[in-house]
Amino acid sequence: MSEKTVHTVRFEPVGVEMEVEEGEWLLDAAFRQGIAVPHGCREGQCSSCKCLLVDGDIEVQDYSTFALADYERETGHILLCRSYAFSDVTIELLNFDEDLMRRAIAVKTFDGVLSAVTSLTHDTRLLEVQLERPMKFWAGQFVEIGVPSGASIVARSYSMASTQSTPKTLQFIIRKYPDGAFSSLIDSTLTPGTAVTLKGPFGMCFRREGRAGPMVLVGGGSGMSPLWAILQDHIESGEQRPIRFFYGARTRKDLFFLAEFAAVAAKLVDFEFIPVLSQATEADAWSGETGFVHEAVERILREQALPGELDAYTCGPPPMIDAVLPVLRRLGIALDHTYVDKFTPASASTPNLVH
Ligand SMILES: Cc1cc2nc3c(=O)[nH]c(=O)nc-3n(C[C@H](O)[C@H](O)[C@H](O)COP(=O)(O)OP(=O)(O)OC[C@H]3O[C@@H](n4cnc5c(N)ncnc54)[C@H](O)[C@@H]3O)c2cc1C
Ligand code: FES
Repeated sequence: MSEKTVHTVRFEPVGVEMEVEEGEWLLDAAFRQGIAVPHGCREGQCSSCKCLLVDGDIEVQDYSTFALADYERETGHILLCRSYAFSDVTIELLNFDEDLMRRAIAVKTFDGVLSAVTSLTHDTRLLEVQLERPMKFWAGQFVEIGVPSGASIVARSYSMASTQSTPKTLQFIIRKYPDGAFSSLIDSTLTPGTAVTLKGPFGMCFRREGRAGPMVLVGGGSGMSPLWAILQDHIESGEQRPIRFFYGARTRKDLFFLAEFAAVAAKLVDFEFIPVLSQATEADAWSGETGFVHEAVERILREQALPGELDAYTCGPPPMIDAVLPVLRRLGIALDHTYVDKFTPASASTPNLVH
């Protein structure tokens, strides 16, 4: 049997070393060895894992030019999730997070069964999965869920809506797309009793504990899932801090958890849930915020001028995230106090890949 060629990877400025096999993505090698390096989608779509190659021979493949532009590739930037090493390499981490490195959880595979599917809206479902053994994760993280689709398996990333308080029962808020390879299976072949496989946990958008300043949560669509987990984890922790939870939806029929949010408001001393409808109709009889969610975030946070250092968490569709991030910058929320999960479509369904 031929031995696998193994190279050494050194990460600066942290001085952490790991090994990578030839033909193994650098990010997968890090997960395998329990090393937490910056990442998001794991599919060359989001740019969270962008780093600088200092020394060595690397090939970057199958990525979106939205994540790594040609000029960045020419200046030595790489994506850890889409890079193979062909020699020992030294890599400079550009946005490493000490909290992330300290709280690294080794990625594992878990078997489970889909135990319940509940309708939240016309196109959004709450899925519950019972695992054979408990999973350790931080509130706000995500897993890759694999389910049978005909004779094959389709796997997609989904954020837990639940917390560590139920480590064997995980919940997910999932939006159905009519053509979606995974999400269109919900209510058809993906029903309670279906065996599922979960791989994880992944992600850097998890709740940071022990912060006194206000917490701002901004989501849209299924971006509710990790934000709901972060909110529940905050409540379970017993900490108190001002919280503003902005949620963008099209019309009233896209809103859910309204009774649950009222119950949260009764538990916390300074909490506001602010739904924002972008396409409210007369039939909605809506007296709340209208327009785009990022516009409401900017106006309301300016008006309120909350004292203290703000932490912001934002999750959901890429166009919403791209609109929210500049607003957070203009509001003076520091980059290292901004936690993001861009729900990029799987690379299998995007046309703009560099091979
Ligand atoms: C880190 C991360 C966390 C995520 N967490 C969640 C979550 O908690 N809940 C959740 O519902 N999703 C989440 N997603 C998105 C999820 O992984 C899938 O991309 C999504 O469910 C679509 O998969 P699919 O197989 O159904 O569609 P695909 O087969 O991948 O796509 C088929 C078609 O569906 C449509 N479509 C797919 N995605 C989108 C989109 N984002 N916007 C508009 N049209 C789309 C398009 O027409 C596309 O061509 C997350 C993604 C990432 C990267
Ligand atoms: S994790 Fe590498 S581009 Fe998203």
